[in-house]
Amino acid sequence: VTPSAYRIILEERIAKLPPRARAGHKGDYGHVLIIGGEQGMPGAARMAGEAAYRVGAGLVSLATRGQHASLLNMARPELMCYGVESPEDLKPLLERATVVVVGPGLGQGAWGQMMLNEALNTVHPLVVDADALNLLAKQPRQHNHWIITPHPGEASRLLARNIEEIQANRFVAVRDLHQRYGGVAVLKGNGTLICPGDLPLGLCTAGNPGMASGGMGDVLSGTIAGLLAQGLTLSEAAHLGVTIHAMAGDRAAREGGERGLLAGDLMFYLRRLANLQI
Ligand code: APR
Ligand code: MG
Repeated sequence: VTPSAYRIILEERIAKLPPRARAGHKGDYGHVLIIGGEQGMPGAARMAGEAAYRVGAGLVSLATRGQHASLLNMARPELMCYGVESPEDLKPLLERATVVVVGPGLGQGAWGQMMLNEALNTVHPLVVDADALNLLAKQPRQHNHWIITPHPGEASRLLARNIEEIQANRFVAVRDLHQRYGGVAVLKGNGTLICPGDLPLGLCTAGNPGMASGGMGDVLSGTIAGLLAQGLTLSEAAHLGVTIHAMAGDRAAREGGERGLLAGDLMFYLRRLANLQI
C-alpha cells in the first residue's frame, strides 16, 4: 500500500454530529445493546455502555451474566442491565436495539459462543470486539453491516498470521481483515488504521501509550456504537469514533500524564468532544 492510498484523519473531520434538535427525545438517538460481561468481566460491558451514553446514545442496555445485572445497574443506574443465560433471553433485547456491540468481557466459553451466535442474527449495525473476535477467528464469516475492532493480537488470530508480521505490515493487515471479514475493519494500536473498503484507508495519529491499560478497547467499541446509534454510517462512526476516543485519551493524558491513565478517565472528554468542545 503506497502512502497516497491512505489519509490521516484530521481533527476537523470530527464535525460530524449535528446539534441535537430542540424537541429531540431519546428515541431519536438510538438504543445500543452491549452483549458481554462473562464472570469476572462485568466492567468491560459497563465501560462500553457508558461510552455509548457519553457520546450521545439515547438508550443503552447491557446483556450480561445473570449475577452481574444488578451490580452493574447500581454502578451506573442509567444503564439498563439484563441477565441473559439463553438465546431466548437475548432475542427480545436484540429486537429492541438499533445497534449491537458484542464482545466486551464476553469470554470464550459456552456462554460467550451462544451469545455471539445469537447476536450475529441481528440486522442492525454491529460492532464486534475482544473475545467475540477470538471466537470469530475459529469460525470466520463475512458481514457487510459490522465493524470489527481487533488489537494486533486479535488481528493475528483473525488472519492466522503472527503479531510481528501484522505490526510490520499494518496497512496490509487492515486491508486483509476487511477483505476476509467484510464491513469496516479497525486495526487498533499506535496509529490505528481503518479500512472501510470503499474509501481510502484512514490513519489516526492521535492517542498515546497511556491508553495501553485495561478497558480502553471497550470504551472504543461503545464510542463507535453510540455514534452509529445517532445515524452515522459504519465508515463515519469508525472514523469519528476512533478519532474522538484517541483525542479523549490525549486530553486526559495532558491533564494527569500518561502513566496511570484509566479507561474511565476518558468519559468526561468523550462527552466534550461529542459536543465539539475541543
Ligand atoms: N498508542 C495509541 N493508542 C493506544 C496505545 C498506544 N501506545 N495503546 C493502546 N492504545 C489504544 C488502542 O488503539 C485501542 O483503541 O487503546 C485501545 C486499547 O484497546 P485493546 O487493546 O482492545 O485493550 P483492552 O480492550 O482494554 O484490553 C483488555 O480486552 O481485547 C481484550 O484481549 C484483550 O484481554 C484484553 C482485554
Ligand atoms: Mg480489547
